[in-house]
Amino acid sequence: MPPHLTLLLLLTIPNIYSTALGVGLNWGTAASHPLPPANVVGLLKSNNITKVKLFDADPLVLQALSGSHIGVTLGIPNSMLKSFNSSMKAALSWVHDNVTRYFSHSGTGVRIEYVAVGDEPFSQIYGEQFRPFVIGAAINIQAALTKANLASEVKVVVPCGFDTFQSESGLPSKGHFRPDLNKTMIELLIFLNKHHSPFFVTILPFISFLQNKNISLAFALFKETAHPYNDSLRIYKNSFDLSFDTLVSALSTVGHPSMDIVVSRIGWPTDGAPNATSSTAQTFLRGLIDHLHSKSGTPLRPQNPPLETYIFSLLDEDQRNITTGNFERHWGLFTFDGQAKYYVNFVQGSKDLVNAQNVEYLPSKWCVANNNKDLSNATERASEACTLADCTALSGSCFNISWPGNISYAFNSYYQQHDQRADSCDFGGLGLITTVDPSIDNCRFPVQLHTSHSTSLNGAYLFCWKELLIVNIFVFLLSFS
Ligand SMILES: *[C@@H]1O[C@H](CO)[C@@H](O)[C@H](O)[C@H]1NC(C)=O
Ligand SMILES: *[C@@H]1O[C@H](CO)[C@@H](O)[C@H](O)[C@H]1NC(C)=O
Ligand SMILES: *[C@@H]1O[C@H](CO)[C@@H](O)[C@H](O)[C@H]1NC(C)=O
Ligand SMILES: *[C@@H]1O[C@H](CO)[C@@H](O)[C@H](O)[C@H]1NC(C)=O
Ligand SMILES: *[C@@H]1O[C@H](CO)[C@@H](O)[C@H](O)[C@H]1NC(C)=O
Ligand SMILES: *[C@@H]1O[C@H](CO)[C@@H](O)[C@H](O)[C@H]1NC(C)=O
Ligand SMILES: *[C@@H]1O[C@H](CO)[C@@H](O)[C@H](O)[C@H]1NC(C)=O
Ligand SMILES: *[C@@H]1O[C@H](CO)[C@@H](O)[C@H](O)[C@H]1NC(C)=O
Ligand SMILES: *[C@@H]1O[C@H](CO)[C@@H](O)[C@H](O)[C@H]1NC(C)=O
Ligand SMILES: *[C@@H]1O[C@H](CO)[C@@H](O)[C@H](O)[C@H]1NC(C)=O
Ligand SMILES: *[C@@H]1O[C@H](CO)[C@@H](O)[C@H](O)[C@H]1NC(C)=O
Repeated sequence: MPPHLTLLLLLTIPNIYSTALGVGLNWGTAASHPLPPANVVGLLKSNNITKVKLFDADPLVLQALSGSHIGVTLGIPNSMLKSFNSSMKAALSWVHDNVTRYFSHSGTGVRIEYVAVGDEPFSQIYGEQFRPFVIGAAINIQAALTKANLASEVKVVVPCGFDTFQSESGLPSKGHFRPDLNKTMIELLIFLNKHHSPFFVTILPFISFLQNKNISLAFALFKETAHPYNDSLRIYKNSFDLSFDTLVSALSTVGHPSMDIVVSRIGWPTDGAPNATSSTAQTFLRGLIDHLHSKSGTPLRPQNPPLETYIFSLLDEDQRNITTGNFERHWGLFTFDGQAKYYVNFVQGSKDLVNAQNVEYLPSKWCVANNNKDLSNATERASEACTLADCTALSGSCFNISWPGNISYAFNSYYQQHDQRADSCDFGGLGLITTVDPSIDNCRFPVQLHTSHSTSLNGAYLFCWKELLIVNIFVFLLSFS
């Protein structure tokens, strides 16, 4: 082989490899200050990530992905399903505006591979809110894609939550769909089968571990030491295989034993709950990636492992709904500002994760509780701040910081979310702006990102100079004592 060809091959191997492994990332944007799309696409590229799943079809995100060759799953939010069920016209214009306009198999456009109809619309938390519209919406979006001549390249899928299938005994062989979904699932599977589209499903060993006493931490984390599950001669060594095969059984009970499966959401959070730490998340992801590399499949599907696997999530999102737990805002492989939380080898040949470059922050300023004031009512103020701000770290990495450190944490989060506007650090006179980073050990007091809507350099900015000066003099004096 000529030397230049060998070199070419060597250079292209990592990408071929990651495509073969089919590992992608979920890119959610439920953040008060989302990292700009250009930074995110740079982050994906420098980490050789070849697939990404979105939750909508934001034009700025699609523009940033143009020409990147990254395989993209577009999302249709649950709130839009009703209109797509009842209106073919709405489906046609969504496909026209959000798929046809950007689509390209190569070259300068966006490599759109899937359209995800709804975001886990059958999850129990939604009750019957979306279920009646899902199949109709999927059929109309499919028809619109066919009309646009894109049906052979873009597949229509419906991401299903982890609670759409179950097994009372815990045994995978007894898996079935949730009884109230039986009819809908049969319709969905007929639809998917007809169009050769895979079944998109969420598998979350972290949630299994939280909810099911039979799932140990070691079993969820792919540890060799975990006590195995014995399902009549089939031996389960980890929670992932157990859930996957429970789904395989559920598919079999309704006549689709060999339906292709894509794991559309899997991950481990790093804060906001016990055992949600960077070190457990690292163990989990390394275990998962090794398992996928091994190509050993699962006991029920040794030859037909997940077609693709989408890690949840790319970045932390400080506006995610926390009804199900404070950990919801900490699924990111990277922090909100694109800094890697731990090490994992996504792609063969990669060493560490590469951080986002050229990130623009607001100035290095924080809002803290003013120790010179009577803070007896500060707890109330902090709780109010926390209803809008993100205080989820107070039940995790910042659990340790004592009062009034936790008050400062709440004040600062509120202040950052409001782009460091001076009047958002008032709290009835109990707040104080400082340039000294109040972070303690693992408890990071963030400085938010500068976004196009940030307005920190307004008139109010001058107002706080006096306070700033006092704090700085105070710190200056302290350094001599
Ligand atoms: C979904 O759309 C179909 C066709 O327009 C309509 O017959 C049906 O009633 C709609 N379903 C719901 C729940 O609105
Ligand atoms: C295209 O997608 C965006 C974002 O999801 C949505 O707001 C917009 O309504 C869509 N376009 C149409 C024509 O539905
Ligand atoms: C846990 O395991 C026991 C014993 O194998 C079994 O009886 C029980 O149904 C399991 N519970 C769950 C929730 O899986
Ligand atoms: C679900 O549908 C299958 C196939 O029609 C049937 O065998 C099964 O009993 C149904 N389960 C429930 C809970 O309705
Ligand atoms: C699993 O259970 C079966 C009986 O259902 C038993 O014959 C077999 O020895 C068990 N295997 C292990 C490894 O415990
Ligand atoms: C998991 O959390 C429990 C309770 O906080 C703790 O005792 C245990 O050490 C943790 N294990 C790991 C591996 O983090
Ligand atoms: C969070 O989710 C719950 C359950 O789905 C819902 O009732 C609540 O309205 C949501 N909160 C927000 C702020 O969206
Ligand atoms: C990405 O792939 C290139 C070769 O295509 C390689 O040199 C680089 O180390 C990889 N980076 C990571 C973070 O994997
Ligand atoms: C604390 O709140 C109570 C009730 O609103 C009020 O009467 C009291 O003066 C406040 N204390 C301080 C120090 O602000
Ligand atoms: C809590 O504080 C103790 C002692 O100061 C320290 O050893 C431990 O690591 C801290 N835990 C966290 C979660 O920061
Ligand atoms: C801060 O800590 C105090 C004392 O432990 C507690 O009463 C208060 O609720 C905490 N506040 C917040 C916002 O976590």
